[in-house]
Order: sequence, then structure tokens, then C-alpha cells
Amino acid sequence: MEFKIKESGYRAESITDNGNRFLIGNGYMGIRGTYDEYEKEHLPAINLAGIYDKAGEGWREPVNAPNVCYAFLRVDGVTYRLPENTESVTEHFTELDYRHGILSRETTFKTRRGKVTYRTERFVDQKYIHLIGMKYTIVTDFHADIELVTGIDGDVWEINGPHYDRLTTTQEQEILFCQGITHEKQTQVWAAESIKADFPLEQKQVERDKKILRRIFFVTEVGQEYKIERWGGIYTSLDGEKPKENLEDEIAQAVADGYEQRLKAHKQAWENLWENSEVLIEGDDTAYEALNYSLYHLHCIAPRHSKSMSIPARGLSGQTYKGAVFWDTEMFMLDFLLLTEPKTARTFLKYRIDTLPGAKKKAQDYGYQGAFYAWESQEGGFDACSDYNVTDVFTGRPMRTFFKDKQIHISAAVAYGIKRYLDLTEDESLLEDGGAETVLECAAFYRDYMIKRVNRDKYELWDVIGPDEYHERVNNNAYTNRMAKITFEFAAELLKEMLSDTEKLGWVKGLNKEEAERLISVYIDSAAKLYQPAPGEDGIIEQFDGYRSLEDASLEEVRSRLLHEKEYWGGAYGVAAHTQIIKQADVVTMLNLFADEYEEEILKANLDYYEPRTEHGSSLSACMYGMLMCKLQE
Ligand code: IFM
Repeated sequence: MEFKIKESGYRAESITDNGNRFLIGNGYMGIRGTYDEYEKEHLPAINLAGIYDKAGEGWREPVNAPNVCYAFLRVDGVTYRLPENTESVTEHFTELDYRHGILSRETTFKTRRGKVTYRTERFVDQKYIHLIGMKYTIVTDFHADIELVTGIDGDVWEINGPHYDRLTTTQEQEILFCQGITHEKQTQVWAAESIKADFPLEQKQVERDKKILRRIFFVTEVGQEYKIERWGGIYTSLDGEKPKENLEDEIAQAVADGYEQRLKAHKQAWENLWENSEVLIEGDDTAYEALNYSLYHLHCIAPRHSKSMSIPARGLSGQTYKGAVFWDTEMFMLDFLLLTEPKTARTFLKYRIDTLPGAKKKAQDYGYQGAFYAWESQEGGFDACSDYNVTDVFTGRPMRTFFKDKQIHISAAVAYGIKRYLDLTEDESLLEDGGAETVLECAAFYRDYMIKRVNRDKYELWDVIGPDEYHERVNNNAYTNRMAKITFEFAAELLKEMLSDTEKLGWVKGLNKEEAERLISVYIDSAAKLYQPAPGEDGIIEQFDGYRSLEDASLEEVRSRLLHEKEYWGGAYGVAAHTQIIKQADVVTMLNLFADEYEEEILKANLDYYEPRTEHGSSLSACMYGMLMCKLQE
């Protein structure tokens, strides 16, 4: 199957959505599927993995590189670009070859003297990760005076910028450069651009409005194709020393190899990925394409170039969600890479191991032992989550939310990810590299968080938020309690393994035999006594204490109570907060993970109960219901 999505015709209203739909990337950078001529109001972005900055009072967010894809067309001295010249367009399409990560667009403009067909193609190299290959093809039905303007636009789109304190531009030999220095950490982000054509053209260089541009002039013969190859490159001071020199060498080599040769190698790199990961579905082409299109996006953002990096919830599509890593990575993305590229999966987990100091600090700040991972993790484990995540649409005031303070299930996601890695790869080197310590610290956190009521024998987890974020600060969330239990079980298992071979005691610095024995009994006790909400008489597992006593209003009824379409459903006064309407799969997420522990009737009863009560306000929701349905063969 070809794996292509094509959109015919131009609609300016789709600019934002298409930026995500037509994204290309290689884990080092993601490039939104916007056109080369777009400027910052149309949200173009070359979003860089793992580089963050804070400017002013705004949220800390990932950095977009200077736009090396910037280009636009002029014919007979008149500019033709979208969306400004939509009325001159006679034909237009955009196409993403998502088997090979190649984005192309073709637009025919009607000019005063005739028609000009302008085709662009781009790929973010899977092999040479700092490079972007681009190709322009121009055909006219008259002798046209063409001016193609290409270069680097340093005036980038940012939500909370500007992130560059300084921007400088230079030209050396045939290469244009733009260097930005970030505000907070003075990281250097270098961007470079070069072109090559096999026909004579005249060039002039200009600088204006944070842009360094080259104006390329030529006159066309009727019906002849004019092709220009173009290379863009990004290198930062975090990638190593001499970013500019490295970029210069890489671009020069790419120009020498030529676009077609590099494209061929890039396509082969994608074929290698699919060979190991394509999911075949017989009898349903729509499902087949949709599923592999989702995998395409995971491939675009997998950090294969690093040994310690994770994937932000919104991938590399821009600055939404602050480029932060959530539980999404371990609980929703990890399995795919574990089963297809365990080395890349290890990279995610190593990121968590390396951010353990941040997690321990967070636990300490809240008065707990162990490791409480960042709800929205940036580099170093910094928790980017604000205390006020939502703005009240009525007052314009920030609303106190407790995602950062109370979604304690994040630490269990980390421990669970390490367990999955170990179960599927049997590679104990991760445990030695800090994995064992990480799991023990997560277990220590839950042990300290638990409470015991004087007259009860069970331990409980109070004042938490489960996956359903609409109900804040609840007690005994079924998902959280079960995930804490598996963390205890896994910690005890690891400690037993370490005792069985004393060399393995060295996996955790300072751990001795006596302490390991003590911890085993602590965690066995914790797992055994931590209360797990059981199915009621009707088979339903209560999402948290008192959930079923909340008003059982229908989704339609609760929706009809909204006074504003953007009003927040959760928090203290949200329309869902005092009802059984939930944001996303919660109990069902737990049942998916532990389906073997329940009778089929219980799984089915909960699926039927919770689905109509779920608003599916997160993209993490429908998939959990879908997977449980598959398990039940519904
Ligand atoms: O992690 C999720 C959360 O469960 C729901 N809100 C969005 C986050 C990022 O995807």
C-alpha cells in the first residue's frame, strides 16, 4: 500500500490543522506541514526535541529553530503566495507520502501573462538528522521572469517567545546562516541554507525583518521544467562543539551528493522502519491506513538520535502542551517501540532514570520520600505544569488545578514502563543503569503517600487525581491504587532478584543485604494491604470512593448545562465535577492493563457502564475503550 494522504484545493481555514496532519520529522526535529511561504501568523515551525526556554512570564516551552524552509515565488515582478493570492490559484494540492515522510504541494497560479505551476517537495532526513532536503520545480506556459526567494526566516512562531535574545545572519560561500541564542540558557541554535540548480541563474542576497534571503532570477522557456535543489540544516550547541562548522560540512556534502541520491537513502531508511513495524490489516483499508498513519507520527518523533530523551505529548508539532512529557509516553507510546525498536524504547526510560533527581526533589518539596515524577516533564525532570492550568472563561482568571500536585499515578507509569521493558527484552542493563533505583524510589514514594485508618487493616491513597481529570482530589482511585500496587510488587521482585545474586545488589548504590530484606517485606506488605476497589454486586468497579453516589446525569444533560462552549468541565465548579461524567478512560484503562485478573462479564459490565459516561475529552480515551473491546471481541 502506498500510504499517501492528499488534499486537493486550498482552504486557508485548514492552515492550523494541516500543520499537524502533514507533519514530517525524524525525532531530532519536527516540521509542521505548512507551506514555505508562510510566516509566523500561519504557524510554521521547525520544532526541536529537548531544547526548552522561558521568556518573560510565559510558560517554559520548546524552541522552534529559524525557519530554513522559507521561500516564495514572484513572477514578472508580482508575488504569488498563499493565502494572500488564493484568487489566482487554478489548481492546488498537498500530498504527504507517509510511507517515506515526504511532503509535496503543487499550485498553479494564473498570472497576467499565463500560468505558472509551482511544485515543492521536502523531507526531514532520516539518516542525516540535521538536514532537510527540498526541491522546487517550476513550469510556465509563457516566457516568464521568475524570481524564487529562498532563505531563513528568524522571525519564528512562538507561543511564549521571543526565545532568541540575539539573532545574527551571515553568508559564507554559498551558504546562508542564521544563529539564535536562547534567553534562559544561551543555547546556540544554528540554521543554514544552500541551493543548487543545473541551469544558469542570478542571485542576490538581502537581509530584512530577521530574515536572510537570496533572490534567484531566471527566465523560462515554455513548458520546460526548472528544478532547484535546496538544503536546510539545524545544529545546536547541545549537539556538540562547533555547530556551525558541522552544519557547513554536512550541507556541503549533501549538495555534492545531490537531492535524488539523498532522497533515495532517506526512503530506504523509512522502508527499514516499516519492515519491522507496518501493521497489516486485511479487509479494511481505512483501518489499515489510519493505523499506519498513527505509527508514521510515532516514527517521526521517536528520539533515535539520543540515548536519553522522551517524546512530548504533542510530539514535535509545536509548543502546545509546552513540549512536555506526560504519562502518555510510558502508557500509550512505549509498547509500540518496545515491540519494534527496543533500543529507542530504552531511550525514553533512560530519560526517566536521568530525571530521577528532579522526581526526588518534587517528592521532597511536597513532603514525601521517594520519587514523584513531574506531571509535565521537561529537560532535567523540571515540572512545567502550572498550578493554574486552566483559565476561567467567565472571569478570565486562572483557575487552581491540581494536576501537578495530585496525579501521583505518573510515578507508577515510570516503574511500569521499566517493568514492560524488562519483561519484553530481558535486558537487565537498564536496571544497572539506574532502572532498579528508579523503581525503588517510586515504591518509596507510594509507601510514604499511603495512609492507614486506625480501625482498618487496609492502606489507602487519598487526595489524588486519576486519569479522569474532571474529578480532582478523590480518595482511592481504582487506577492509581492498582498502579501503586504493581509498583510495590515489581520493587519486591527486583529486590529478591538482587538478593539472589549479590553482584546485583550493586544496581542500587549503598543497598545492603539487610536493607534489601527489610524492603522486600515492606513492599510485600504494601502490595497486599493497599485497598483495591472490587466489583460491586452489579460488577461495576467504583472509580473512586463515592463516585457512584454522584449525580448520574447523562452526557447530553451535562453538556446542556454549559454556559460557554469553552467552559472547563472539571475543577471545583465544572459541570462534570459533581456528576458521574468523566473526561477519559479511567477504570477502563486499569482493566485494559489487568484484564487477565477479571472475568469477562466484569470487563464487559464496566465497559458498558463507563463508556456512555465518558466525554472522551482526551485523545487518550477512545483507544482504551477500543482495546478493551478488542480483547472482548466486541
Ligand atoms: O496526559 C494527558 C492527560 O491524561 C489528559 N490531558 C492531556 C495530557 C497530555 O496528553
